[in-house]
Amino acid sequence: MATTDFVTGLFGLAGKTAIVTGSSKGIGRVIAIELAQAGAKVVLSSRTPGGADAVAKEIADLGGEAVALSLEVRDETSVKAFVEQAHAALGRIDILVNNAGIYPAGEFLTASTEHWDTIHETNVRGLFLCLREVAARMRADGQGGRIINISSMGSIRPAAPIRFAYDASKAAVNRMTEDAASAFAADRIQVNAILPGPIDTGRMDRNDEAAMKMHNAVLRRVPLGRYGTPHDIAAAAIFLASPASSFITGQTLVVDGGFVVR
Ligand SMILES: NC(=O)c1ccc[n+]([C@@H]2O[C@H](COP(=O)([O-])OP(=O)(O)OC[C@H]3O[C@@H](n4cnc5c(N)ncnc54)[C@H](OP(=O)(O)O)[C@@H]3O)[C@@H](O)[C@H]2O)c1
Repeated sequence: MATTDFVTGLFGLAGKTAIVTGSSKGIGRVIAIELAQAGAKVVLSSRTPGGADAVAKEIADLGGEAVALSLEVRDETSVKAFVEQAHAALGRIDILVNNAGIYPAGEFLTASTEHWDTIHETNVRGLFLCLREVAARMRADGQGGRIINISSMGSIRPAAPIRFAYDASKAAVNRMTEDAASAFAADRIQVNAILPGPIDTGRMDRNDEAAMKMHNAVLRRVPLGRYGTPHDIAAAAIFLASPASSFITGQTLVVDGGFVVR
């Protein structure tokens, strides 16, 4: 049976514009490609100039439209310049996926202050700066919008104490999501978060014994019996960016194969 107009209308993004931060690789890359496949014109980002050019080419080769810009979310000047350039390139911003993030490990008693600061400057302050700059543009343009913050399952169910600083940063993202949803509801700007569980972004060294041991230990804790893929997260992002979720705001959507309910 062919896809119905009803379904296409619910999930299609034709004529929409989107920014995906941290889209040079991993989850952000696939979210950007799938948003473009759904019809959105996309702005990509990487810290290094040219770092997301290959993804822009992939999207163009698939018949989509994408522009790659550089962005360092820890630098306010960079965030402001990035959002200004993205807005100029897109005409208006309908969708922001706040995906850029880092997750280095550290033990409570030996982790440096820099460890904590770098994670929080990137995952919390950086996400806030992008949200603030884009929400201001959305409000000024008066067309509403969708903001999707990429949090983590670790924000509600810690998987390993070596992620304590990371888990705390993502818990802050969840609360910021709720507050922003409330602050911008009158502007028809919906703000939601996705909480991915363990996602295989294809970069694990299968010859690294310690890494494989940890990989298998995590796998045993996923009720659905597999790691997630970036496409699992992209599917949730399309839902939260599309008309299908037009009455949803301030929510955290866990995409983790059941990890948190085991
Ligand atoms: N992978 C998982 O299992 C998992 C699980 C739960 C949540 N998450 C979350 O999902 C998001 C993406 O994770 P991933 O595994 O796809 O990560 P990744 O492959 O390491 O990619 C991270 C992306 O963020 C960008 N980035 C990092 N620091 C930045 C900064 N200071 N300023 C601007 N951009 C920066 C990187 O850009 P460059 O090109 O400059 O490197 C890259 O594009 C993160 O928020 C992460 O916390 C991931």
